[in-house]
Amino acid sequence: MLRLKPDADGIAAAAAILHAGGLVSFPTETVYGLGADARSDTAVAGIYAAKGRPSFNPLIVHVASLEAAEDYCEFGLVARKLAHAFWPGALTLVLPLKAKSGVSKLVTAGLETVAVRVPDHPLARDLLAAFGGPVAAPSANPSGRISPTTAAHVIAGLEGVIDAVVDGGSCKVGVESTIVSCVGAPALLREGGIPAEALEACLGHPLLRGADPELPTAPGQLASHYAPQGKVRLNAPCANPGEILLGFGPVDASLNLSSSGDLTEAAANLFACLHQLDAMGANAIAVSPVPDHGMGRAINDRLRRAAAPRG
Ligand code: TXA
Ligand code: MG
Repeated sequence: MLRLKPDADGIAAAAAILHAGGLVSFPTETVYGLGADARSDTAVAGIYAAKGRPSFNPLIVHVASLEAAEDYCEFGLVARKLAHAFWPGALTLVLPLKAKSGVSKLVTAGLETVAVRVPDHPLARDLLAAFGGPVAAPSANPSGRISPTTAAHVIAGLEGVIDAVVDGGSCKVGVESTIVSCVGAPALLREGGIPAEALEACLGHPLLRGADPELPTAPGQLASHYAPQGKVRLNAPCANPGEILLGFGPVDASLNLSSSGDLTEAAANLFACLHQLDAMGANAIAVSPVPDHGMGRAINDRLRRAAAPRG
């Protein structure tokens, strides 16, 4: 795969690959995405093939602005309020798909809704502007594995199966976007880079969440995901013999998400630490407890899936 520089030539080359129906990984503020032209069935089919992703798991459409998003989906008052408050940023909205949107049915896995977001990363925004259309992009990792927060992670996971990666260094947020459905009453489908508390403060009421069978679900929320090679044990005060401790806060650990106990820093380090544990050949990993508020909620969600029994 080509490793493109984070400059005007790199962006032009990436946009040309998208126009030709190819696959380009690019940095966003959350994680690296694997982009393809969202209007092209063959390009989008390429994403599923490269990732080994089940085709029932729909993709997020990335656009340059709220105005651009309105070409593809219907915004009600609540969706508009959230978009104004948090875009560009780590919030994905699930909204009713417009008829004649032009978005490939493979992107939505045949649903009548679509997930959209305006990313807040200068290279992602430059690429969307240069391409001038909607870009479908899941995280740029083989399905079920750890999400990438550097170009090196993308290359390690997808070498030989995608065309290029734009190397923009490390992602600032480090966990994927928060997903909110605004199809009915606003519902939290995935914890992520914008803490639920911030969304609820904006709306002035709690988001629906949980196991209510009436709620829509994000079909990709598989129990086992973000999995390193090693077995993961959560809420560990210390490592047992044979385990490597992934620490949080002032603990004696060779790897620490944030020794000062900063949840934002911990989120930014999470996937890089899991990739590093793989590189070290760790086969048993103990993880310190992480407080379950603010960014800690997304961290704990990813850790629970990393620790879940593998399918
Ligand atoms: O931060 C992010 O969101 C990153 C960057 C690249 O933007 N992308 C990302 O994509 O995390 P992915 O494919 O790894 O996760 C997309 C999630 C999946 O859980 C999928 O099921 C859900 O979005 N999703 C997509 N379309 C949906 C829809 N119409 N209804 C409900 N969930 C949807
Ligand atoms: Mg993913």
